Amino acid sequence: MSNVLELVNVRKSFDNELVLNDLSLTVKEHTATVLIGASGSGKSTLLRCINLLETIDDGQIFLDGQEISDPLISVDEVRRKLGMVFQSFNLFPHKTVLENITLSPIKVHGIAPDQAREQAMVLLKRFDLADKADQYPDRLSGGQQQRVAIIRSLAVNPRVLLLDEITSALDPVLVNEVLSIVRDLKHDGMTMVLATHEMGFATQVADEVCFLESGLILERGSPVQVLKNPQNAKTKDFLKRVHEAGRL
Ligand SMILES: Nc1ncnc2c1ncn2[C@@H]1O[C@H](COP(=O)(O)OP(=O)(O)OP(=O)(O)O)[C@@H](O)[C@H]1O
Ligand SMILES: [Mg+2]
Repeated sequence: MSNVLELVNVRKSFDNELVLNDLSLTVKEHTATVLIGASGSGKSTLLRCINLLETIDDGQIFLDGQEISDPLISVDEVRRKLGMVFQSFNLFPHKTVLENITLSPIKVHGIAPDQAREQAMVLLKRFDLADKADQYPDRLSGGQQQRVAIIRSLAVNPRVLLLDEITSALDPVLVNEVLSIVRDLKHDGMTMVLATHEMGFATQVADEVCFLESGLILERGSPVQVLKNPQNAKTKDFLKRVHEAGRL
């Protein structure tokens, strides 16, 4: 299996705070890498650096062997290969579901409008949202909005999907419909990097779990290794706190 993403000694500070501390990570094709760790450990910053929403201070990031941390790279070209979904759905409120999904393919990637709409409808049908195509986001449940946000990120056929706490803002009863899409995508072989507080879900989809603390990956391995049999005292402590909060 080839490496889709490779981060080498990535360093990122905000003001004087070191948020990613020489972090290295390799993501192989068709695998799901799950980032866990306390609030402030650097999970979102890591995903944002991969998507070039933040510039790194040092180190390198490669996508399919191409260095995307090179300042001369075309950001649009890189983003075309990456899908990102955030905790807050970030749908455009004044555009319909179909317009939200087709906006980027048409405007950024130059796909013909009819073709973009056709592709969007295929995805909406697949995820049982075809009847919502002409609705505005505020008429949808949180779970439906987040499913549309995932579909939107898929519309450009990304190489990697970056998912940042995509269920954190949802009512617990809506969480499963969103996670089931991610399970389907995993089944299809989509390469994914996810930050999540849902340890049960991490166990189901992850090929590799990375425990972050202070911008470093302190422990990594299969879900069984990291979540059921952690070696590092800080991983153990984190999981104990998660368990006490009833999230394991
Ligand atoms: N734009 C920014 N400006 C200044 N500091 C920032 C910025 N973004 C993140 N930070 C800081 O970087 C650190 C890591 O934040 P990050 O959002 O990556 O953590 P996280 O692991 O995603 O946390 P959470 O689980 O709460 O989402 C935090 O101390 C945060 O305050
Ligand atoms: Mg975060």
